[in-house]
Amino acid sequence: MQKILILDFGGQYNQLIARRVRENHVYCEVQPFSLSREEILRFDPIGVIFTGGPRSVYDADAPKPDPVVFSLGVPILGICYGCQLLAQTLGGEVIPAQDDSAREYGKTLTVFDTSCALFRGLPEESVTWMSHGDYLSKVPEGFSLAAHSAACPTAAICDEQRKIYGVQFHPEVNHTEYGAAMLRAFLYEVCGAVGDWTMADFKTRAIAAIRDKVRDGKVLLALSGGVDSSVAAALLSEAVGKNLNCVFVDHGLMRLHEGDEIEAVFSKREGNFVRVNAEERFLSRLADVTEPEQKRKIIGEEFIRVFEEEAKKIGAVDYLAQGTIYPDVIESGRGDAAVIKSHHNVGGLPACVDFKEILEPLRLLFKDEVRQLGRELGLPEALVSRQPFPGPGLGIRVIGELTREKLDILRQADYIFREELEKAGLPDAPGQYFAALTDMRSVGVMGDGRTYDRAVALRSVQTSDFMTADFSRLPWELLDRVSTRIVNEVRGVNRVLYDITSKPPATVEYE
Ligand code: XMP
Repeated sequence: MQKILILDFGGQYNQLIARRVRENHVYCEVQPFSLSREEILRFDPIGVIFTGGPRSVYDADAPKPDPVVFSLGVPILGICYGCQLLAQTLGGEVIPAQDDSAREYGKTLTVFDTSCALFRGLPEESVTWMSHGDYLSKVPEGFSLAAHSAACPTAAICDEQRKIYGVQFHPEVNHTEYGAAMLRAFLYEVCGAVGDWTMADFKTRAIAAIRDKVRDGKVLLALSGGVDSSVAAALLSEAVGKNLNCVFVDHGLMRLHEGDEIEAVFSKREGNFVRVNAEERFLSRLADVTEPEQKRKIIGEEFIRVFEEEAKKIGAVDYLAQGTIYPDVIESGRGDAAVIKSHHNVGGLPACVDFKEILEPLRLLFKDEVRQLGRELGLPEALVSRQPFPGPGLGIRVIGELTREKLDILRQADYIFREELEKAGLPDAPGQYFAALTDMRSVGVMGDGRTYDRAVALRSVQTSDFMTADFSRLPWELLDRVSTRIVNEVRGVNRVLYDITSKPPATVEYE
């Protein structure tokens, strides 16, 4: 399979680059810029992309890749910092913009030389998304200028001989009008991609790799009933058959009726299915805990302990499998990247895990790829297109301390919201929608009496990748119906709020 290596210099759009490459049916991985010489050689890419990043190339400790990338003889595309880095390395010069007029942020009209392989067949003028302070003041030998804007004479450079390209703007961002076409040109026209990354191929390869590793060993899968772990279950079931044991831990943080629904579906599908009712145990460990990261860590650790115990009951289980996916890996922090939240199935793992190995067969897939794989494996559409539900469940949707009373209130409110939203059959269906219980109490009036009750927050977002999200513009009538029903039907709630923040700056979940 052909591979593109994306070297990560810490830019905020790096995952978007990976998604754009994958959408073009070309496999890629985002690796830290410090990847060793041996690892780069072993990766054996058909092309390399340097991402943007927050640093300046003239800083004494500016991040630089191993020089071997320049002698692989494969095409390179540098984006923003990556462009400056390759230009400086190859003999060009980068300087800080002298005054504000030479800095560019946002949509910028850019003029292209359409004889450059990246821009062939595209209009000579279009809008690009710029975000830079430094700029390239001297083009390295062998390169020609391929684009400019009013403030930046070097918006793109190219060396068609060596197939090295640099763009100062961000082609991966939708605001760059022809960005997708430019990346596609790099992949297909420059790197010679054939588009061999498909979920059918992935399925075959993943099954072979699992069989190769596990052989006759037993696997215990942490099944939550969400899309990721359900797809992992189907994949592992094909790979290891009866050696797969699915354990569903009901931590008491599930939505209304959810535990029973999961049991109904999976006890039929998977031969070895176990449901562990562990509400008591989780809630007692979480008593008095209010700090979100601490909650996540406790839930993550307790999950593993339950699995270890179940594994002992089954006997001779070597492998613990989880439905971890790529955004979980990235958002839990790798290398230099900031930890945003410890996703319970990655960063929340305790240091000591009593299994021979952890299997994460989906850890390199984006959500839409997981759904495609699920379809490929023949899972029902209702399961494949379910909205995501986080591993720590309602534990991170009740703000502050968790109690059974609060969880019950939230379960009812959340059920009403989801029921009404699904009934409304909106044309532009939200990617995720749920209720959260705030830690606020406020005064209200019901009947003729004063109330002093809790406030429920409704959250609904439009998103394609869950890494960024926009709040849903839900119809007022729908919100009105939901609010009326919640206040009338759920005891202990007298106020309903609608969350109108996007991600960033907020996140989808509350904790
Ligand atoms: P945030 O809140 O980080 O959420 O914007 C992005 C997406 O990730 C889901 N999420 C999780 N999924 N374990 C999971 O399996 C977790 O710990 C976790 N935390 C957040 C969230 O529901 C949203 O879809």
